Amino acid sequence: MTDTIFVLNGPNLNLLGTREPEIYGSDTLDDIAGQLEDRARELGLEIDMRQSNHEGHLVDWLHEAQARRAKAVILNAGAFTHTSIAVHDAIKGIRTPVIEVHLSNPHTREDFRHVSFVGRAAKGTIAGFGALSYTLALEAAARF
Ligand code: DQA
Repeated sequence: MTDTIFVLNGPNLNLLGTREPEIYGSDTLDDIAGQLEDRARELGLEIDMRQSNHEGHLVDWLHEAQARRAKAVILNAGAFTHTSIAVHDAIKGIRTPVIEVHLSNPHTREDFRHVSFVGRAAKGTIAGFGALSYTLALEAAARF
């Protein structure tokens, strides 16, 4: 196993900072990457942070995380969380532990966000703490 943590981000998360800031906060994805890199350095870990609006990229990157012997995956699959059996199956299909993260708390929002195909396959979930959700997930991954 390597010291690399894959941080995978799904659709519309490239818009963080300007996208519904009352829900998602004002940090951009680059800001979050910076926060994670600072904490990862202290923990002796490496971050490989990616974003795509395409479902298949998330599937490919989950496979790659295992092939590259990543320590863990932190995954914010965005709306694919609630729709993607392919992402669910990719998580099930690898042995690399996956932590589901969300900036918002989907359970306090619309009904269609109450189902998580990611959460049914992930090791655990951290949601509702804004950008801090990612750092909390990194703290958990550091202990694997
Ligand atoms: C999200 C929650 C999802 O319901 C939504 O589709 C997103 C962002 C979050 O981080 O709060 O795109 O994953």
